[in-house]
Amino acid sequence: MSDQIFNITTPIYYVNGPPHIAHAYTSVNSDVIARFMRLDGRKVWFVTGTDEHGQKVAQAARAEGCEPLEFCDRISARFQDMNRLMNISHDDFIRTTEPRHKNAVRAMWEKLKASGYIYEGVFAGWYSVRDEQFFDEAELVDGQAPTGAPVEWVEERNLFFRLSAFGEALLEFYDSHPDFIAPASRRNEVVGFVREGLRDLSISRASFDWGIPVPGHPGQVTYVWLDALLNYATSAGYPDSLAANGVWPADVHVVGKDIIRFHCVFWPAFLMAADLPLPKRVFAHGWWTVEGEKMSKSLDNFIPPERLTERFGVDGVRFFLVREMAFGADGDMTEVALQRRIVGELGNEFGNLAHRTLTMIARYCDGRTPAPGVLTAQDEALLAQAAAMLPALRLQFGEQALQAATQVIWNVVGAANKYLQDEAPWTRAKGDPDRLKTILHVAAETLRRLALVLQPFVPDAAANLLDQLGVGPQARSFASFDQALVAGAPLPDPRVLFPRPESAPPPAGAMPSPM
Ligand code: ME8
Ligand code: MG
Repeated sequence: MSDQIFNITTPIYYVNGPPHIAHAYTSVNSDVIARFMRLDGRKVWFVTGTDEHGQKVAQAARAEGCEPLEFCDRISARFQDMNRLMNISHDDFIRTTEPRHKNAVRAMWEKLKASGYIYEGVFAGWYSVRDEQFFDEAELVDGQAPTGAPVEWVEERNLFFRLSAFGEALLEFYDSHPDFIAPASRRNEVVGFVREGLRDLSISRASFDWGIPVPGHPGQVTYVWLDALLNYATSAGYPDSLAANGVWPADVHVVGKDIIRFHCVFWPAFLMAADLPLPKRVFAHGWWTVEGEKMSKSLDNFIPPERLTERFGVDGVRFFLVREMAFGADGDMTEVALQRRIVGELGNEFGNLAHRTLTMIARYCDGRTPAPGVLTAQDEALLAQAAAMLPALRLQFGEQALQAATQVIWNVVGAANKYLQDEAPWTRAKGDPDRLKTILHVAAETLRRLALVLQPFVPDAAANLLDQLGVGPQARSFASFDQALVAGAPLPDPRVLFPRPESAPPPAGAMPSPM
């Protein structure tokens, strides 16, 4: 089992439009988890990608006067740009238009047909292209999908999946796997939905052709959600090597709360029907608004990630996206919050702590790592608090409690700042140089540990700080967490970690697109 690979996924994003900051949100948080696990010695398979079939994408391509695939190539490339920009460390980027995926979908069709859970019938009901989801009359709210999206009447001969046969099995599964759906509020939502009774699901479409053909059924293409969910299996090697390579089942599918039903009901039912192991966990994060407004086309407030990284730096934005909103809860993205988290916390509280410590070492210790003398209770307390971070973080990461994880770290940042304030090493240069060195040793050791655990969140800044502390690449995994700095080692000249961002706020009146 120890060879079992830690498999984490993001949703694959629709290519109907370019990436925005909330896509970056999901991908950055997933990346933080993937990086943490790698640093903690796990083999990781981190998958992201693009969802390219279906009516929504076909319509977007047509609106641009493009062939669908050409359009998909272009937008998918923008998501790959976003990954590079945001420093996403994925191991696989999957596109649903790739041959390996079409092959997996075909294999799944064969398997589902053989299982007896497929039949032909007539679908008559409502369809929301924006949600790529079927609804029946009773589910509509004022003639629209519950999401507020417009619906159209669809009547076509389709292939159906006997979802209704899986209600009991799903409820039993949720019951025996209490960690499958997180957070708990989402779990109640899913259980409630399944308890009401499941209806069979149309899993093919006949009225357009931008999709993966259903084998043996000319004129039918695969329903885009069956196609999309299968990406997780494709990336893990389905159908050839799924069982053998240690990737499947997924450890955690990170998704937004908008798509929980697909991941917690449809997906496990498909897998049960195909006799495949179920993922261990689906974690549904919450929803961002921007200055109190829903992100929408009409408000034109889909913030492109680069608009924020240009002002605040990539690490600044990554930090904000993990730090501001409890993972699982909703949050509001505001100029005030950006400034407070990135300039205030990351820049001032952490950046200055690092810079002060390093410049004092340069100045008072001849630019060499200081050796400690006798440690006081205050020294021991700070060192112990820093040492306790890693076990605490492991617990938080086990539950994807990423904001809570940043708080574990920030408690130490706060304690270290207070320690320097109280000990005032700069006052000891003349009278008590040994004590000065001890204080700077304690501060540097604390910084080393902070830099190690900050690597998943702010990889470039953490690497920069580790360079400045003289911690080599071989001593940066969590296996080296307790390996103290070598006293007397020469250090490079200190450099500022976070140059001050362009702090001029955007012009008034630019709301609700302030960033
Ligand atoms: O649903 N706040 O793709 P999609 C937080 N292709 N997260 C948000 C957000 C917001 N305001 N807006 C978007 C699809 N997201 C399917 C997925 S998976 C097999 C197929 C994030 O392009 C969030 O992660 O509509 C959400 O689940 C995802 O973008 C939806 O991206
Ligand atoms: Mg969507």
